[in-house]
Order: sequence, then structure tokens, then C-alpha cells
Amino acid sequence: MTSTAPGPLRTPGLSERAAVVLRGVRRSFGEREILRGVDLSVAEGEFVALLGASGSGKTTLLRIVGGLDPGAGGRVAVPESVSVAYQEPRLLPWHRVWRNVVFGLPGSRAELRGRALAALGEVGLADLADAWPKTLSGGEAQRAALARALVRDPRLLLLDEPLAALDALTRLRMQRLIAELCARHGLTAVLVTHDVDEALVLADRAVVLRDGRLAHSLAVDLRRPRDPGDARFGALRGRLLGWLGVAGD
Ligand SMILES: Nc1ncnc2c1ncn2[C@@H]1O[C@H](COP(=O)(O)OP(=O)(O)O)[C@@H](O)[C@H]1O
Ligand SMILES: [Mg+2]
Repeated sequence: MTSTAPGPLRTPGLSERAAVVLRGVRRSFGEREILRGVDLSVAEGEFVALLGASGSGKTTLLRIVGGLDPGAGGRVAVPESVSVAYQEPRLLPWHRVWRNVVFGLPGSRAELRGRALAALGEVGLADLADAWPKTLSGGEAQRAALARALVRDPRLLLLDEPLAALDALTRLRMQRLIAELCARHGLTAVLVTHDVDEALVLADRAVVLRDGRLAHSLAVDLRRPRDPGDARFGALRGRLLGWLGVAGD
């Protein structure tokens, strides 16, 4: 299955059932083989959480899915429009918030401002459209980054620990926002997180990257909204923590 081409074989425009298909995805840095044949299919509209120890290759895998790593091998099929959000919001400090949201998009100023305001409205940040990035709180900056991802109308949203730097309360609010946005737009999402509860609150399925492969997969068959205090939630948490090498409750 592994291609011998210099980059992964990319096949845009998939069948309607699977939004993401990875087959035998490999990546080495020098002598170190980080990904040793990752297989993953993500259905249209599915939300998958990707867990794994620090350094296990989660960011590497997400970059490959996002088309940002020409050095990988294997097969990668994703939709045409993919947006990525990172742990750091990566806003340009010399542009106001709304300009950051539509940065790089074609269109007239009025048209772009309208699109930016609509996206900022969706994340509850319309009032701060004209603010400078450095005046935003961590949560606000992350919401601006989400607006920037959404305004591009993606079919697939890739999230690399976007909430890891936020305080606990802001993180819970942002989790709810991400769930709402994905449901409203019917987005397919892959979320990298080291927070097992975050995975269980948001995802339809959690997968664990270990020794360069997806070693475990867990269907999160809990009704929404999900309660971390619920016994079944606790049972799934215990399984994930066990796979991650951390003892469960
Ligand atoms: N561009 C690179 N060059 C060399 N090594 C890298 C590069 N990117 C990642 N790595 C290494 O690959 C391993 C996996 O990194 P990463 O995917 O960032 O892990 P994770 O996101 O799971 O913490 C780490 O050991 C990291 O140092
Ligand atoms: Mg990472």
C-alpha cells in the first residue's frame, strides 16, 4: 500500500461516506521511524479524537492529513477544503482581528469584512472584530482562530490541542462551542488532545497512537451532552487511561 513517491499519495474528492482515508502512512525523521503504518478512516461528519503520549507523533500525523508534510509515505485521501487550528492561535499582531480571520482570502474589503463578521459572530466574538490580537484573552484568541478556520468553509477541521493552554472554565466553554460548530456545519473533525475527558465529551470515537500505529479505537457511544460524572463516561475514561499507560480510577 505504501507509495514510493516522495510524498504521500493524495486523492482529493472522495466518495461521500469516508471523509478521510489513511492507509499505511509512514514518517521517519532521520533514523527515527515515528509513524510505522497508520490506517484510519473517518466518516463524513464524524468527530475523532486522537490521543497518545507526548512525542508519539500526533502532530506529525495531523500535519500529514492537512497536506503540510511532503515527506510522508503511504496513502492519504482527504476532502478539498481542510482547515487547521493549533494550540497557539497564530494571529498576526499587525492586523486587526477581522483581518486575521480573512487573511489570505480574495475579495473586496467590504465583502471580506462581512464574511469575517459572520464567522466572528458564530464564535461570539463579533464585538472584538476591530480589536488588536494582543488585547485578546487566550480564549478569545482561540475563538478568533476558530473563526479563521470556519470562514474558509472547510469540510474537514483539524484541531491540534487547541484548548491545551486555556484555563479549565474557558476550556469547557470552548469544548461546547466546538461541538456546536461541528454539529451546525456538519464538519468532519480530527482533534488531537491529551485530555481524556475532552476526547470523551467531544468525540464519536477516540483512537490512540502508540509505537507508530493506531493501537486502540474506542467508540464513544454516550448520549450528548455528556456528563463526566456519569458512570459509563467513567468506564470509558478508565479504558482510555489504561491504553495510555495511566492507571484508571
Ligand atoms: N521536523 C521534525 N524533524 C525531526 N524530528 C521531528 C520533526 N517533527 C517531529 N519530530 C519528532 O517526532 C516525534 C513526534 O513528534 P510530534 O508529532 O510533534 O509528537 P506529539 O504531537 O505526539 O507530541 C518527536 O520525537 C519529535 O521530536
Ligand atoms: Mg503535538
